[in-house]
Amino acid sequence: MIDVVILAAGQGSRMKSDLPKVLHPIAGKPMLGHVIDSARLVNANAMHVVVGHGADQVKARFGDEQDIQFALQSEQKGTGHAVMMALENLAKSGVTLILYGDVPLIQSHTLEALVKITQQGNVGLLTVNMDDPSGYGRIVRDANHKVKAIVEHKDASESELTIQEVNTGILAVPTEKLHEWLPKLSNDNAQGEYYLTDVIAMSVAAGIEVETLQPEFAEETFGVNNRAQQAELERWYQARLVQDLMTQGVTVLDPARLDIRGQVTVGRDVVIDANVILEGQVVLGDGVHIEANCIVKNSSIAAGTSVKAFSHLEDADVKQACDIGPYARLRPGAVLENGAKVGNFCEVKKSVIGEGSKVNHLTYIGDALIGSNVNVGAGTITCNYDGVNKFKTEIGDGAFIGSNSSLVAPVKIGAGATVGAGSTITKEVEVDKLAVARGKQVNLNWQRPTKK
Ligand code: UD1
Ligand code: CA
Repeated sequence: MIDVVILAAGQGSRMKSDLPKVLHPIAGKPMLGHVIDSARLVNANAMHVVVGHGADQVKARFGDEQDIQFALQSEQKGTGHAVMMALENLAKSGVTLILYGDVPLIQSHTLEALVKITQQGNVGLLTVNMDDPSGYGRIVRDANHKVKAIVEHKDASESELTIQEVNTGILAVPTEKLHEWLPKLSNDNAQGEYYLTDVIAMSVAAGIEVETLQPEFAEETFGVNNRAQQAELERWYQARLVQDLMTQGVTVLDPARLDIRGQVTVGRDVVIDANVILEGQVVLGDGVHIEANCIVKNSSIAAGTSVKAFSHLEDADVKQACDIGPYARLRPGAVLENGAKVGNFCEVKKSVIGEGSKVNHLTYIGDALIGSNVNVGAGTITCNYDGVNKFKTEIGDGAFIGSNSSLVAPVKIGAGATVGAGSTITKEVEVDKLAVARGKQVNLNWQRPTKK
């Protein structure tokens, strides 16, 4: 049985925000979400989030997740007190792992190792060595180098203050012992708080050894108290995500100028230029090239496709060897079949652009089904909305839409049909017909006015 308790009751006043601190994002995901995801990977049986400040917002964000229970700490009386709020929900036996909603980047393999220590009958404590340990709880060891206690900075003696090994706060304790020890905590200390860290001395007194572990990266244990620390962790995490993409064979022209806020799946020889943001679930096939300043969100881009600079894709499904941009916008439901082109200043929404079809300049395509090898001329608009309802436009294979046409939906353009430039099409154009729907040109004799 593995119970996880995540402390998330603190106010985070230094964030100066209406959003509870643990909901602030790293890589697009709330910090608490990172902690929960890492905890899930250690096969936790139950997760208990201790909420306090902003409890309603935190519950609203994570309340739907079946494996999460909340415990309310209405007054913040210390880390020990916080864990106590969840105590009655914990199992009778097994291991309890204690984590922090504002320490987002803890890795699951670090947690696994801590849990393992505890499953072997010890208390597992995560520590780090710091050049400047000010403010942290110090790890006090005996002559045999065994952990004796944690002493908080404010309670430490002169000699204890020189200790550089500090408590990260993260620990794993036999649950049975937690039930026994927590009610015995006292707040007789410099801060008048119930210190979770006092269970360390209790463990030693009970003859249960405290075994320490150091994380792979110190950043795993960094907490976020202000925007600067949030930004620092964001950069560190991004560097790791980008490094991972490069390990998978992606060329990243500037690793400091790619941001990943989600899951990215890549084929071989993908190239990503500077200032690109990938968000949500993104799939990039073999040889996909993304030029500078593009945003790609929840989209799939198949092999050989090129996305030129300043393009924006969201919920789009782009097949092989397509050409997008520069300055293209693919909105939700845009589907580009193999070899399709969507050029500069074109917007496509909830529409299929068929194989080899071209929508090259200054065009809006919404709620349309466009066949293969269609040429949509510059400035074409599908008039899909009458102010109340949306309607469909269908364009058959091989049709040619002249520039600056308005296609007033619902409307069908047959295969092989041609629409003369500047037409406003309001009724069906049959297969292979030419439709011209514009004012007839008249050339008149005329004298320009002269200045009076
Ligand atoms: C704690 C540790 C200290 C360690 C440091 C690492 C204790 C007594 N001390 O100190 O040894 O070096 O973390 O950062 O545990 N929280 C609650 N409810 C409370 C109090 C805290 O939910 O009543 C949450 C906070 O929101 C925060 C976390 O627990 O996420 C840590 O609390 P904080 O006050 O920052 O602990 P420190 O005093 O820094
Ligand atoms: Ca703190």
